[in-house]
Amino acid sequence: MPTVQGTEDLGAKPLSTFLTSLRRRAFSSLGFPIRGLQSVASNPWPSVDLFRCRTPPSQPHSSTPNGNPTPSLPCWNGMTELSQLLTVRYGPDAPQVSLDAFAENTTLPLLLSHKSVRHFQPKPLPAGTLEMLGAAAQSAASSSNLQVWSVIAIQDTDRKAEAAALCGDQDFIRQAPLFLVFCADLARLTSASERENLPGVALDYTEMFLTAAIDTALAGQNAAVAAEGLGLGICYVGSARNHPRELAALLGLPQRVIALFGMAIGWPVENQTTTIKPRLPQPGMIHHETYHVAARDMGITKYNATMRGFYDAQKMNVEGDWSKHSAKRIAGPESLMGRETLREILEERGFGLK
Ligand SMILES: Cc1cc2nc3c(=O)[nH]c(=O)nc-3n(C[C@H](O)[C@H](O)[C@H](O)COP(=O)(O)O)c2cc1C
Repeated sequence: MPTVQGTEDLGAKPLSTFLTSLRRRAFSSLGFPIRGLQSVASNPWPSVDLFRCRTPPSQPHSSTPNGNPTPSLPCWNGMTELSQLLTVRYGPDAPQVSLDAFAENTTLPLLLSHKSVRHFQPKPLPAGTLEMLGAAAQSAASSSNLQVWSVIAIQDTDRKAEAAALCGDQDFIRQAPLFLVFCADLARLTSASERENLPGVALDYTEMFLTAAIDTALAGQNAAVAAEGLGLGICYVGSARNHPRELAALLGLPQRVIALFGMAIGWPVENQTTTIKPRLPQPGMIHHETYHVAARDMGITKYNATMRGFYDAQKMNVEGDWSKHSAKRIAGPESLMGRETLREILEERGFGLK
């Protein structure tokens, strides 16, 4: 999605403005939003660049797979780190919870530290990385264990360049040593049905495409988390759906296989990483017992204010706030950048969608 996504490719920007505004809002009107912040009240935003920290200090490993020392936060305990991460993720709307039970956990800081990386060093990945990311991906849950996905790993420079050209011409795809293309794959079950001399009629229903899409996404996210846990950076590439026919030809995809998204993986260029991007407030996104429309709409209002501050601090060329940016993104079929024909292409590629 070059037009929309391009605005997110920010490079390194000082965070001080955004942090100052967050701190002002969080500390003045609401007090400390979460427990744990008290411990850093005298210096609420330490100079340590939290946003580049990929590995929690309590993690047992002392080095990344390439032998580089693991980035860590000196003198910070897990609770402080978590509270800071929550504040950066939500701004003044961070959930107010006791962090005592979570201080030792190493998965939460990893997940809360996620940010897309769009600048990669020209440095190879350690041997075995692809296999380990594959194992992480395959360890995701799978509906009925049908495992209806495949991934094409592109490392060849020329093929990567061709794929990049088809995927929104995004340069970070060329830079990344590894470009994974995650595909919904009903061809394997077609083959299994033929072996068993069974008709496989259910494969022609929308439910099976959706099953494949869900399985593929779960596998992709497992690979993403695994990569980030190794200190690598990732960026998803939805533009893999911009030219599905051409990409299928480039990758030799058989019928009933279609690329859903790509993932560029590599070592981040440390001084060109973007910052952690705030998310919608939890009330209205995470509903208790039943769906709450008013909380959802209040969440939009609050998030608009947070994101406006974020866009300004990041010098992002985004008009208006989050709802305006998002509403423009979905205003007409042209904003789908060719993907408005996806149903036709899916049918052409053998997905029944009944
Ligand atoms: C399925 C999917 C497709 C995406 N496609 C692109 C893309 O083509 N180009 C890009 O720069 N970012 C892409 N992104 C990254 C999103 O823009 C990013 O996740 C979002 O802005 C939130 O930022 P964060 O990941 O840094 O938290 C994609 C993300 C997802 C989940």
